[in-house]
Amino acid sequence: INVGIFCGGYSSEFEISIKSANMILDHLPKDEYNAFLVRVNEKGWFADYKGETLEVSPIDFSFVLESGERIVIELAHVYIHGDPGENGKLQAYFEMKKLPFVNSSALSSELSFDKWFCNQFLKGFGVEVAESYLILKNSHYNTELIGEKLGFPMFVKPADSGSSYGISKVYELEDLQNAIDEAFAEGNTVVCEAFLKGTEVTCGVYRNSEGIHPLPCTEIISESDFFDYEAKYLGKSKEITPAGISEKLTSQIQELTVLIYQLLQMRSLGRVDYMIVDGKIYVIEVNTTPGFSKESLVPQMLDCADISIGEFWTEIYEFERK
Ligand code: DAL
Ligand code: MG
Repeated sequence: INVGIFCGGYSSEFEISIKSANMILDHLPKDEYNAFLVRVNEKGWFADYKGETLEVSPIDFSFVLESGERIVIELAHVYIHGDPGENGKLQAYFEMKKLPFVNSSALSSELSFDKWFCNQFLKGFGVEVAESYLILKNSHYNTELIGEKLGFPMFVKPADSGSSYGISKVYELEDLQNAIDEAFAEGNTVVCEAFLKGTEVTCGVYRNSEGIHPLPCTEIISESDFFDYEAKYLGKSKEITPAGISEKLTSQIQELTVLIYQLLQMRSLGRVDYMIVDGKIYVIEVNTTPGFSKESLVPQMLDCADISIGEFWTEIYEFERK
């Protein structure tokens, strides 16, 4: 079966996506899958196939080798962080074209990806989230009122962007406007969130034919002010798997992660990020396409659980293809 791992994309995380996709590719059993990367950029889709770079037709998902042979993608594994993968756009197109794919559906991805919609949705089921305030582009808002409502410090984030770009921690009113402008440079909606001071923990989750399984939790101790881009990718944070929290908290977080996976109707792999404050578990964000590079968190969780990466994806592929 020909598997195209769609990676890259339009967001500032395109390089991470290519690393994630390569990591998956390197571990897939070669005798079961004829897998290759398909890089997505604004110019089109480009397959890296046995040393050739070939443009993929979005009409029939095929490309032609120099030898004249035509390869047709039979299964797409969408692994783009941000636009147009983690936000569900490619999935919507594949759903319309009936191309089988691995990742959450278009609806589930878009809902999970948008920090505002996702938090409102989870809140409706009694899940704890930080108090927040939404700002739409070109709308009227009053920074003083936002400050009064949420207090300082607060986080200002683009609501519809998955990376840490455009996120600031704001300590005083006079810096708030600037942070909002920076967030608007990365996204179309901005959410201001009350700051939660506690222990940051994240938990992976996936489904195979045996059911939905949570992975071990990872605790993140950031040397920076928060788990920002530098901390995430330049090694300026300490990650501990399994997290140094009680067994009880661990199972509560794992159960909540499975519940969120079900509520959002996620598929394949996901990861939910949390802040624990005085024993209370708050959701920070949901990731339907969590980082999968060597430095990323989910591979650490798989390692801790003694699950081989190749088997992990094989089981997911086989379940999703049924
Ligand atoms: N946005 C990065 C890839 C993550 O959530 O791991
Ligand atoms: Mg994310």
